[in-house]
Amino acid sequence: FKIPAIENEPMKSYAPGSAERQALAAAITQMEQELPFEVPCIVNGVEIKTGSLAKQPMPHDHARHLCTYHEADEATVAQAIDGALAAKAEWESMPWNDRAASFSRRRILSLIAATILGQGKNTWQAEIDAAAELTDFFRFGVKFVEELYAQQPAKNSSGSWNRTEYRALEGFVLAVSPFNFTAIGGNLPGTPALVGNVVVWKPSPMATYSNYLVYRILAEAGVPPGVIQFVPGKPAEIVGQAINHPSFAALHFTGSTFVFKKLWKDIAMNLDKYKGYPRIVGETGGKNFHIVHKSAEVRNAVLQTVRGAFEYQGQKCSALSRLYVSSSVWNGGFKDQLLAEVAKIRVGVPTDWSNFMGPVIGWPAYEKILGYIQKAKDAGGEVLAGGTGDRSKGYFIQPTVILSKDPKSVTMVEEIFGPVVTVFVFEDADFEKTLDLIDNTTEYALTGAIFSTDRKALITATNRLRNAAGNVYYNEKCTGAVVGQQPFGGARASGTNDKAGSVSIFYRFVSARSIKENF
Ligand code: ALA
Repeated sequence: FKIPAIENEPMKSYAPGSAERQALAAAITQMEQELPFEVPCIVNGVEIKTGSLAKQPMPHDHARHLCTYHEADEATVAQAIDGALAAKAEWESMPWNDRAASFSRRRILSLIAATILGQGKNTWQAEIDAAAELTDFFRFGVKFVEELYAQQPAKNSSGSWNRTEYRALEGFVLAVSPFNFTAIGGNLPGTPALVGNVVVWKPSPMATYSNYLVYRILAEAGVPPGVIQFVPGKPAEIVGQAINHPSFAALHFTGSTFVFKKLWKDIAMNLDKYKGYPRIVGETGGKNFHIVHKSAEVRNAVLQTVRGAFEYQGQKCSALSRLYVSSSVWNGGFKDQLLAEVAKIRVGVPTDWSNFMGPVIGWPAYEKILGYIQKAKDAGGEVLAGGTGDRSKGYFIQPTVILSKDPKSVTMVEEIFGPVVTVFVFEDADFEKTLDLIDNTTEYALTGAIFSTDRKALITATNRLRNAAGNVYYNEKCTGAVVGQQPFGGARASGTNDKAGSVSIFYRFVSARSIKENF
């Protein structure tokens, strides 16, 4: 059995008047009429309503909520772990292609609608995420698992036969997923499960409804009860209980650097309780850069900068946040074009097709982002565009461009996770000095982009920034890695760089066994 070639899911364009636009509009309208939904925990395929209720508000209209969800209590989490462990033997012994087939899904309009209403994405951002990337994760996962299992010893000595078996981890995997990508919600439990693991999945409280739909889609596609346990609720309590369990075998995490470091330390303190050394896989923060060389093609660099910084309100972990521009380019049209483009950006409800930007995810994020803008001003930063917000109905912040004369000012260094880009203009002659600055300014190393028409400058930058980013783009924005094309992840404080969307991450969720047989 060999799987045929796999293509990325094509993206729909939702052109005005098209049937696909009408269908999505109808799905959104229907969801708005039916909300709020009630979301249970799901353990062993059975809905559990704990009665401890929490709400997922809609970021563009915070008086209303998309769903009310039952928070998993201690007994539910314990049952989820026990049930997962009980489901393990049958799941891991299933032929891998049958396991993989359980992840073949069809695109579902209600999942796109839930991502728009619950996580504040506009249609195209939701399409990239909940339709295309989620499908790609599962579809390419099949290919990656096949590649992984095909890895065998290179040599058999005469009279012996060697083989390697890739076992699922002994115990359960804890998946902790973020709000900003519905696709990551699916991928964090999905990747370990594809290679035979059982998973306790705690979704982000801010993405509960879309993640619940992902769970249901997988269950309907054939993932058996118990293999993925859906336990929404209070993050610290659920995660704390799971990592205290003797059968905890791995953490698959996407979220903040702060939380990831804390969990790593907590896991270390529990080490004597476990049967083995847990695998810890995490994708965390970023402070992603564009550097624009004097040879750059200005129009492209401007448009890519606007998209990198402001799509999904700068809430992609890969989003552009610090921009270094050569002075002749900055003064030769870049600044004017950038500000003209930013002035055109419409900010508003994500269900209005003409809005390029929607709300930020919630109140703490709103306060934090505006707080950073204030800190930048206090430190002498000049706000060239935006800088203001309005939270009377939803959490809206204008796309913000700050010019900083200090390349180590707070908004050049710290992760903001919002629609704020800080610019530092360097002398044309200081290109190489600026590369060193980029390398040494923050603790993160997730993504970056280099804009230049001079191949030598691209090579110099790539070499000098060897450790400054896990994903590098030439003449293109620093967001938008595609599964199977640009394996995604960063090092330093940005994560363990195990590369989502590639075969390498699957190695982290298996424990290989070498078998020698003489004949
Ligand atoms: N993988 C996402 C991107 O590259 C975060 O933008």
